[in-house]
Amino acid sequence: MPWECAECGHSCDDHPKGFCTKCGLVQMGPGTHEKYEILEKYCCALSLIMRNNKKKHFFIDACAGSGIVQQYDGTTILDGSPRIFAKTREKVEETIRDKSKKPEVECKFIENNTKTYNILQRELQDYNSFCECIGGDCNFILDKILNEAEGAFTFIYIDPFGLGEPTIKYETVQKVLERGFTELFIHFSWQGVSRTAGLLNNIDHHDEKIRKTARSSVNSLDSYLSPQWQEIQRNAKSKYDRRKRFVTLYENNLKQYYPGVKYVEIPIGSNNPHYYLFFTTRNETGYKIMDGIIKNMRLKGSTSIDQY
Ligand SMILES: C[S@@+](CC[C@H](N)C(=O)[O-])C[C@H]1O[C@@H](n2cnc3c(N)ncnc32)[C@H](O)[C@@H]1O
Repeated sequence: MPWECAECGHSCDDHPKGFCTKCGLVQMGPGTHEKYEILEKYCCALSLIMRNNKKKHFFIDACAGSGIVQQYDGTTILDGSPRIFAKTREKVEETIRDKSKKPEVECKFIENNTKTYNILQRELQDYNSFCECIGGDCNFILDKILNEAEGAFTFIYIDPFGLGEPTIKYETVQKVLERGFTELFIHFSWQGVSRTAGLLNNIDHHDEKIRKTARSSVNSLDSYLSPQWQEIQRNAKSKYDRRKRFVTLYENNLKQYYPGVKYVEIPIGSNNPHYYLFFTTRNETGYKIMDGIIKNMRLKGSTSIDQY
């Protein structure tokens, strides 16, 4: 189906994966609107609780994108996660009974792609007083932001395409997991894992270049998922069994750090999800709120993946 970019007018025969190669505008995929609904509902509830308890709190979007996104089957522009986070402030201000209760949320957005970053900065300029956009690789920047937010509550959202570009390192996620007073909402790319895991067959390949690439990919997956993924890759009974066991492995890794781990497939209800979103918390109320949001969305029904 022909596609045209709503930002720069660039067009091509096929819908681009991820973003417009000319200007960097992020494109919506299957189930993106469900992800946004979860974020919006959870973050409004979270910030309201934080303000009522007078706690300094930050929303950190480590793979922020362009701030706005283009709808899959048209040229409509919608708010992406950074603008959803930023708008939480005014929504909580409207809802909170005692408006003298502060502090209000502050936001940090990290984006590595320069073109995408330029749109992000433009789209967040009205929120400059409490939102900061930082260009670069979150593997280096996130740690610095977390140090600056010492003592404050942080809700960290990590939503790259696939495994990230550059790949989100395990050490980056581990620093988040080890931090107190933090919640994590993270994209688990089943498809990215599956593609990389397939390279296990090439670790003894006679061609040195292929062998080296395969070994380096196996090493990154070892640290992303723990080396147990190799046994699953070799012995799973079917594609479905493999996916289920990879997801369980990821869940168990997170449970070593957080008692509350909840995940949902995207699109919700799909038998063949594109990815999973994992939420982790040490707070019972936080867990119940997220659980309720996901249950309600399941009841409403899911998007049919066939339309994509
Ligand atoms: C799926 S898009 C983001 C969408 C956005 N979070 C949203 O929900 O609207 C992923 C973005 O992450 C960026 N990205 C990927 N890996 C990154 C990294 N290591 N550091 C910073 N940004 C990264 C990509 O350039 C891309 O713009």
